[in-house]
Amino acid sequence: MNLKGKSFLKLLDFTPDEINYLIDLAAKLKAEKKSDIKHKLCDGKNIALIFEKTSTRTRCSFEVAAYDLGMNVTYLDPTGSQMGKKESIADTARVLGGIYDAIEYRGFGQETVEALGKYAGVPVYNGLTDEFHPTQILADFLTIKEQFGYLKGINFVYMGDARFNMGNSLMVGCAKMGLNFTACAPEKYFPDKALVAECEAIAKETGATLKFETDPKKAVENADVIYTDVWVSMGESTDVWKERIDELLPYQVNDTLMSNAKDTTVFMHCLPAFHNLETTVGKEVGGKFGLDALEVTDSVFESEKSIVFKEAENRMHTIKAVIAATLSDI
Ligand code: CP
Ligand code: NVA
Repeated sequence: MNLKGKSFLKLLDFTPDEINYLIDLAAKLKAEKKSDIKHKLCDGKNIALIFEKTSTRTRCSFEVAAYDLGMNVTYLDPTGSQMGKKESIADTARVLGGIYDAIEYRGFGQETVEALGKYAGVPVYNGLTDEFHPTQILADFLTIKEQFGYLKGINFVYMGDARFNMGNSLMVGCAKMGLNFTACAPEKYFPDKALVAECEAIAKETGATLKFETDPKKAVENADVIYTDVWVSMGESTDVWKERIDELLPYQVNDTLMSNAKDTTVFMHCLPAFHNLETTVGKEVGGKFGLDALEVTDSVFESEKSIVFKEAENRMHTIKAVIAATLSDI
């Protein structure tokens, strides 16, 4: 497997073997880190981290992964560069590509990270766009593999708005890796038809299945994993909260929903999650609509079925695998 020099912009660009290789490499790097075995595979290399939206997990994972690999990091916050405001994406890409060995980008349209990838001349990594969040899926799949021992044949149910980055990327990931994907929401929240068609063609090759279900009880009956994400994503207007709550509350992951699944079913979430009112947004929205939780209740989030913090830790190990595979001779 040779991924050296390649960008990581979306899972559609990678074969199942390549995705599997990255997950296994992450597991190896994780085991090494736990045994205090150093792996400075990219010693002295430099990476620029561009964040046009805020982040905890992705930024920290890129930084720690880079440090563990022996790299130096520059973080550019949402206001910290000329990109897009005074300098085009293509120009920024060529400037940073001349200075850095790799670039990470979190922002809005997928076309921006694709343009960076086209012009930078060095590997570019997608740290989340409106359309895709591919490094998150590597972490999710490593976590599922750790939990169940395999990926192919896992019944994976995504509850909530499946049209945005998480629903799209999980559908692509499941199709590529042979999981049985169900999106459960009112129909208007199902992923874009063209992407569904693309994933159906992939699923035919891998043995995955794709289902779109409006009845939550039916959707989770045989689920191994129940996954959800926030109902309003970064960059969306806060005006849509009312509509989202009205339409998605029946799809909240709560004890009743979990009890319709199996004893072995786990709960996953990319995080951050509105499972209580202990955040500014949670307090404001929950208070306004008389709810004590949004997409997932506190009882599910804090239950033994919830593997969200293992999943969050795996962000770092999987991002490290992407950097090591694309920058070093590993
Ligand atoms: N899951 C995730 O991407 O989290 P951050 O927004 O904190 O990076
Ligand atoms: N859909 C969420 C994912 C956060 C990791 C967002 O884009 O805000």
